[in-house]
Amino acid sequence: MRRMLVTGGAGFIGSNFVHDTLRRDPDAEITVLDALTYAGNQRNLDPVSDRIAFVRGDICDAELVDGLVRDTDVVVHFAAESHVDNSLNDPSPFIRTNILGTFTLLEAVRRYDKRFHHISTDEVFGDLPLDSDEQFTESTAYDPSSPYSASKAGSDLLVRAWVRSYGVAATLSNCANNYGPYQHVEKLIPRQITNILLGDSPKLYGTGANIREWTHVQDHNDAVHRILANGRIGETYLIGSGEELSNKQIIEQILTLMNRPSTDYDQVPDRPGHDLRYSNNSTKLRTELGWIPKHDFTTGLRSTIDWYRSNPTWWKPQKSETEATYKLLGR
Ligand code: NAD
Ligand code: DAU
Repeated sequence: MRRMLVTGGAGFIGSNFVHDTLRRDPDAEITVLDALTYAGNQRNLDPVSDRIAFVRGDICDAELVDGLVRDTDVVVHFAAESHVDNSLNDPSPFIRTNILGTFTLLEAVRRYDKRFHHISTDEVFGDLPLDSDEQFTESTAYDPSSPYSASKAGSDLLVRAWVRSYGVAATLSNCANNYGPYQHVEKLIPRQITNILLGDSPKLYGTGANIREWTHVQDHNDAVHRILANGRIGETYLIGSGEELSNKQIIEQILTLMNRPSTDYDQVPDRPGHDLRYSNNSTKLRTELGWIPKHDFTTGLRSTIDWYRSNPTWWKPQKSETEATYKLLGR
């Protein structure tokens, strides 16, 4: 499976995946298919640009997708509209890319009988109570809250149906929140780091009691490699580090690591329908495929802060437009 088509490979997790794949297998033949939406940045691939083929295009373009899938061995599907707040503001690109785009890829994969791995999210399961030790498992019923998570749930269900009805050789993974280099400044951690670097204050939604489980992007991609190598066809694997923190704790930790008082943040209006808590039980991935996350949160957060400090020319072009959008949303 040396020839790989990576959709969304100019985004946060996809670009880290391309770097990681080439570190593991310098001879891998990678084609990235990415529409370069506001979230995609071809510069993420600069360090490997002479070792990959890059195609700017849309996963909903059936003719383009047909040719690219025909000429590969495996499709790793990261491309998506990925931000919950944007989906609340305008759901339409989420329905198109996440559902129609996944359908378009599945049809091509079915035609040419190719291996497919679908990247998804724990948000398809809805949320868990704050004061509990309940966890999501591979058999938790789908109960998405936002247009984003509903569109990802729809895409997961398409993949499962194509496995069962057409025998497509697909696997799925649902990961919790990621952090690390190349993440767009719209997301919680980079937004606060870059606010502080610009002398502004972090913005906490509501009381900040909501809990997320944080997995370093390299640990996520290590899990994807293990699933590609040894995952059972038709199976879903949950990915999660076990590191659960409230949003308030995260912002306080970022402020402390950046030498600012831990109370130096603004509370802003809450996200509508805000999911309370996510927590993935990743026992199946750990026992079947030997996955163990290597990054502890504080060390990973420190190196993420260093990355944004060292790469202002990467994030500054995104920042003013992102904050202008947040201002319109009142957050
Ligand atoms: P991202 O928004 O950083 O990147 C998405 C990429 O997809 C961008 O490069 C964008 O240009 C591309 N894209 C969007 N629409 C496209 C289209 N129609 N055709 C081709 N390319 C298109 O997203 P991310 O955070 O890297 O997430 C990648 C995947 O992982 C998504 O499927 C997301 O649902 C899933 N996921 C993300 C997280 C997280 O914490 N970020 C956690 C679990 C799962
Ligand atoms: O769980 C996996 C999901 O994690 C992925 O599927 C999504 O693609 C990814 O964006 C992420 O979704 P979240 O909505 O959890 O991530 P976000 O970074 O937008 O917000 C994390 C938490 O922080 C959430 O509870 C909202 C809160 N928040 C967010 C921002 C941007 C704030 O308090 N302040 C902020 O400025």
